[in-house]
Amino acid sequence: MRKLRLGVMISGGGTNLQALIDACQQHGYPAKIEVVISNRPDAKGLERARTAGLKAVAIDHKEYEERAAFEDAIHDCLTEHKVQLVCLAGFMRLLGADFVGRWKDRMINIHPSLLPSYKGLHTHARALEDGVKFAGCTIHYVRPEMDNGPIIMQAAIPIAPDETEESLIAKTLTYEHRMYPAAVRLIAEGNARVSGHKVVIKEDVALPATGLICPLP
Ligand code: GRF
Repeated sequence: MRKLRLGVMISGGGTNLQALIDACQQHGYPAKIEVVISNRPDAKGLERARTAGLKAVAIDHKEYEERAAFEDAIHDCLTEHKVQLVCLAGFMRLLGADFVGRWKDRMINIHPSLLPSYKGLHTHARALEDGVKFAGCTIHYVRPEMDNGPIIMQAAIPIAPDETEESLIAKTLTYEHRMYPAAVRLIAEGNARVSGHKVVIKEDVALPATGLICPLP
């Protein structure tokens, strides 16, 4: 089996990166990580990559006067490693339209909300403030507008009456860690296809029989 070649881009702790590392170490998983890139040289995720024996590269945005040059350096690194799918996993710099266009339908992102609600930062606190009953997380193809693009996979996460921002962040991350490897598998196995603004999932991929209701009726 030919494995899909991944490039993972991070800025911080890299728990989603770790979930992908762990998945790629499973026998028969259809993808492998070729390179991990961080715009922050001190990102803990770079250590995680090195510990796993992966190529870990810091491309520090502060060393570039212009965003285009910074993004060219990332692009060159990804192409040098023959990356086929870029996985943004807590990469905290906005990417320009040129870069995004070069990786159109070959770059995905994970965001801690049920998009299109709560784009941007502080998603959990904003959901709690609004009193919504479900939070969630989303994996989507990247388009130039922030946190926008065809949605591949989502989890709806019930908000408990005593939920705090901290508990919701932790709970959401457990779903993120399950979803990211699953979404990459969908793509690697050819079961997800972009069609216009949507992602079409192959019919024979299992879906849950029921939705989630919170609070339970
Ligand atoms: C995650 O919540 C992800 O959804 C968001 O940034 C966070 C990254 O966390 N885009 P980690 O670095 O993977 O632990």
